Amino acid sequence: MASLLVVTVFLATPAILILVRLYQKSTNAICTSKKRLDGRTAIVTGGTAGIGLEIAKEFAHRGARVIIACPFKQEGSDALKTIIEETGNKNISFKLLDLSSLKSVREFAGNILTTEERLDLLINNAGISSLKDFQTKDGMNFIMQVNYYGHFLLTILLLPLLKKTGQPSEPSRIVNTSSYLHWFGRIDNENMNKSGYYWIPNYQYCNSKICMVSFSRELMRRLKGANVVVNSANPGTVGTGIYKPLGLCGLFIKNMCYLLFKTPREGAQTAIYVALDEKTGGMSGCLFGNCKESLVSPLAYWDTAKLWEESVRLVQLTDKELELSLK
Ligand SMILES: *[C@@H]1O[C@H](CO)[C@@H](O)[C@H](O)[C@H]1NC(C)=O
Ligand SMILES: *[C@@H]1O[C@H](CO)[C@@H](O)[C@H](O)[C@H]1NC(C)=O
Ligand SMILES: *[C@@H]1O[C@H](CO)[C@@H](O)[C@H](O)[C@H]1NC(C)=O
Repeated sequence: MASLLVVTVFLATPAILILVRLYQKSTNAICTSKKRLDGRTAIVTGGTAGIGLEIAKEFAHRGARVIIACPFKQEGSDALKTIIEETGNKNISFKLLDLSSLKSVREFAGNILTTEERLDLLINNAGISSLKDFQTKDGMNFIMQVNYYGHFLLTILLLPLLKKTGQPSEPSRIVNTSSYLHWFGRIDNENMNKSGYYWIPNYQYCNSKICMVSFSRELMRRLKGANVVVNSANPGTVGTGIYKPLGLCGLFIKNMCYLLFKTPREGAQTAIYVALDEKTGGMSGCLFGNCKESLVSPLAYWDTAKLWEESVRLVQLTDKELELSLK
């Protein structure tokens, strides 16, 4: 009897895993756009590993100038080499960007504004999921600053170049990476920059992702008339290094996700779709998953203006900078 049970479990487990795998593979949408990007420029934050690296490679294949950004020199130069070797496109740069530092974001943006002539695509892809919940030297929650506030500041500082580049027939595009986990997040303006405040250590991750969606909507509202569209992409469950800070447990999650759900290349498809597809170029303030428009938690749109004001205060944007970006 016991041996029968063992045999059943032994046979059933792989069968279930194979079914999950097959289901996932059959529903993973692939971006089918054939659009070329010759003469275009794209920035991919976190474009040095995981989903970001796949997005960067795709843009490079299509002829774009691609700037990849991350805070690690070695990872950056390795990724640079990989992209150039695999795509034959040499118009690729790596620049240091530490999203957990307002100073680093300002330096990066300043450098882009002085060295680049155009910016067609800004892919706010970098993200961190961490059990360590602490304050950065800017006095903000680490996870929130990397995933949300850092990208908020970066986007606003780069808007003058995005607006200059966008044309009525071809708006420049901002793509934010969100997550299904945004459904669990709250926009809790009072407590969002605190550490150790929430019981669940990784809760700020959910919060950061709902903020991204909210920010997109508010930015869309404020950009009326500019040839810039802003949308969010949900990569789905993907096996990447984002789980690394979770230690051994993270390694297990990564490999299970990789096997059962999406590879980074598959996870990159929706962001690529939002960046390139003709239809998504005419939409703004929307969230996409599996290359389709998807539902947003109603909480994300509850009070987008309040989150905006609070974010402006925390990242210390001046009135002059705001005017330059949004006038
Ligand atoms: C690199 O890309 C930019 C923008 O797409 C373009 O203007 C420039 O000519 C390219 N440079 C080279 C060496 O191809
Ligand atoms: C972060 O939140 C705390 C508590 O609400 C506040 O005292 C602090 O000033 C905030 N930090 C910044 C940079 O505003
Ligand atoms: C994208 O992120 C930026 C910066 O975090 C934010 O200002 C913008 O509203 C977001 N857009 C979307 C569509 O989520």
